[in-house]
Amino acid sequence: MELKHQDIISRLTLEEKCHLLSGRDFWSTVSVEAKGVPSICLSDGPHGLRKQEGAGDQLGLNGSLPATCFPTAATIANSWDEALGEEIGVCLGEEAAAQGVGVLLGPGLNIKRSPLCGRNFEYFSEDPYLAGKMAASYIRGIQRLGVSACPKHFAANGTELRRQASNSVMDERTLREIYLTGFEIAVKEAHPLSIMSSYNEVNGVYANENAHLLQEILRDEWGFEGFVVSDWGANNDFVEGVRAGSHLEMPTTGGDSPRQLMAAVEAGKISIEMVDRRVDELLDVVLPVAEAVKRHNAKPFDVEAHHAVAMRASEQSIVLLRNEGGILPLQAGTKVAVIGDFAETPRYQGAGSSVVNPTKVDTTMGVIGGFPLEVVGFEKGYPRVGEGDPALRDAAAALAKKADVVLLYLGLDEISESEGLDRSHMKLPQSQVDLLQAVSGANPNVVIVMSAGSAVEMPWLDRCKAMVHGYLCGQAGASAVLKVVCGQVNPSGKLNETYALRYEDVPTAPYFPARQRNVEYREGLYVGYRYFETVKQPVLFPFGFGLSYTTFEYSGLQVSDKGVTFTLANTGSMDGAEVCQLYVGAQKPHVYRPAKELKGFAKVFLKAGESKTVTIPLDDKAFRYFNIETNRFEIDGGTYDLMVGASVADIRLTGSLEVKGTDAAVIPALSTIPSYAKGEVLAVSDDEWKRLLNHDIPDGSWSGTIGMNDAICQLYYAKALKARVICGIMTRMLNKSIERGKPDLNITFTYNMPIRAIGKMAGGLVSQKMCEDICTIVNGHGIAFCKGIAGVIAGFFKQMGVAKKAKAIK
Ligand code: BGC
Repeated sequence: MELKHQDIISRLTLEEKCHLLSGRDFWSTVSVEAKGVPSICLSDGPHGLRKQEGAGDQLGLNGSLPATCFPTAATIANSWDEALGEEIGVCLGEEAAAQGVGVLLGPGLNIKRSPLCGRNFEYFSEDPYLAGKMAASYIRGIQRLGVSACPKHFAANGTELRRQASNSVMDERTLREIYLTGFEIAVKEAHPLSIMSSYNEVNGVYANENAHLLQEILRDEWGFEGFVVSDWGANNDFVEGVRAGSHLEMPTTGGDSPRQLMAAVEAGKISIEMVDRRVDELLDVVLPVAEAVKRHNAKPFDVEAHHAVAMRASEQSIVLLRNEGGILPLQAGTKVAVIGDFAETPRYQGAGSSVVNPTKVDTTMGVIGGFPLEVVGFEKGYPRVGEGDPALRDAAAALAKKADVVLLYLGLDEISESEGLDRSHMKLPQSQVDLLQAVSGANPNVVIVMSAGSAVEMPWLDRCKAMVHGYLCGQAGASAVLKVVCGQVNPSGKLNETYALRYEDVPTAPYFPARQRNVEYREGLYVGYRYFETVKQPVLFPFGFGLSYTTFEYSGLQVSDKGVTFTLANTGSMDGAEVCQLYVGAQKPHVYRPAKELKGFAKVFLKAGESKTVTIPLDDKAFRYFNIETNRFEIDGGTYDLMVGASVADIRLTGSLEVKGTDAAVIPALSTIPSYAKGEVLAVSDDEWKRLLNHDIPDGSWSGTIGMNDAICQLYYAKALKARVICGIMTRMLNKSIERGKPDLNITFTYNMPIRAIGKMAGGLVSQKMCEDICTIVNGHGIAFCKGIAGVIAGFFKQMGVAKKAKAIK
């Protein structure tokens, strides 16, 4: 195979090549300057840059340089606005280049399979089409200046519990249609220069060494030409990773992994041609990216201009969920009581590796003076963490009585939305619900302003007149919310996810979190609205829902195989934008299929009284399904409904289209999977799931002996008492930090990581051999135990030698 960078590669030694495929430190790649290979720097993250000045960590613990904190992905997805995504991307790319960063680790586009996943705030949607389109827009923007975006986490990484030690098990069709389609759109439409492999296994093979994902699908099918970087510490078997299509292990393992690769080449276990090929593919990005960063010459970014973009982004993403009696927008001069801790100390981003050190932060109490409202006072209302406080509640109710309208700031606390920690329920803190009762008792004109990056249950909704949902709105969100409240901005956001009435209604509830190693995706294609619409289960707010201060009318639908065209009219009295959504459903499918699937959308701005012709094109994804027999996408022939709606549950126009099929044989036959045929997937039997999987259900149970790939939290189930004690101490520390309301990310990260990752994350202090010895210590007694201790000590000195040599290369 011809190499693009043969001239450089032929001058590199084997040792240099192997080192290039592993990090130099926490954030940068190895350079071999004398032979023309520069180093590039990688930094988080999805909604703002997190370039660390001092000690590196992937949890957002140590400080980072100031950067604009844009609304998180979950927020921007509510805008359904690709131009906006691209604009944010351009700002992110500029900030990256300004700080010498060549790869920005984002966007994150994992599918929100469960509303309880702790990182949902970082992800776009429960729908792959929306997620893919929004991710593509960010990538186009980020890469405009020549730095690389890095969509993550590839793939099927939807749980934080044991995130590095779990196996996502699903049938190939579900993998392709739900968990890969977003990445496919992002790769094919926006050509990211890099992509991040996820921590988990996918059907029994670690994502970072999964040739099916990295080579067959990503490179061969989708034409990806960038490099694959492992999530931090996600590398399991370095040699297998290189073979499968991974190019860069992060962070450094102090020469341990390169040493393994060299030994494998020398022993003929992997060919030098394969190593050359990976180096070539890596250089193909590193060289131009390093050039782009150099060209940019650390030109500072415009802090104020980016703050303004963050504000506009928030304005366009806010979702108005309720507006009884048209209480909003408020008239100028309305007397308002501002209640709720979030109005003083906003929650505008989540916790973990995505944490941005903002250039500045607007707070409601800081900016409200600039709005035409008469503020009668402010009360905290509830303590941020723990039980409610009757005194705070009473003071809030007393203040509420003095106002025409109460602006009540509620939301999820920091602990609820964090990397490394899933939520255990979908509720708001009880202290806030009690406050709502008290305040609405004192004054029924309550407008809730919600801050939360993922769905919550709202059995108390009728206690408020209106709800403005800002999601996690970034550093300028406080002003954006008030613009909506006062009618300076007409809200146009629509939900990127379904809000179930109760958590138990959610299709993945019986399967989340996984009890053993295997995360069983038994619900198949029925994620989010795909389930609720098929089984006609009522929800609180459907996917795609959001109110406006104006009204829109849809008419004159025309359908063709190219797409749909219709007229949209703004029939109200205020200018505004509408997100028109196109869903497709087969009338008599021969394969199992959700009743409605999003296949296109358009955000259309109309002046009051104006109307426009809107076209939403159909693309290659409109009618396809993945056929496990032919191993490619096929088309099930028949009549399809094309439904144009203001949400998935508010279809305004329906047409139909005859679609010619590709006539492939369908496996499994519809009649053999009745639960899937009907969408009733809350209790899929082993037999039926087996038929969908087309193989036996893999055994994910633990033996009780701790292995390299068992998570540290599993020590709890170990046979050895000492392991259980260690785990008990950690669990206590974790629970304490949860009680304090602030996640201890060191613990959550360590808790969920496998023994093997101790080596991967210790910056070269611990080799893989030492990790094996740690397992021996944990499991062993007597001689085995002593051997393990001796192994760790000897391993330490050996690894020091390897790390010293590795340093000499960089
Ligand atoms: C996260 C990634 C992040 C990386 C580097 C990991 O823990 O999963 O999303 O980019 O750390 O901070």
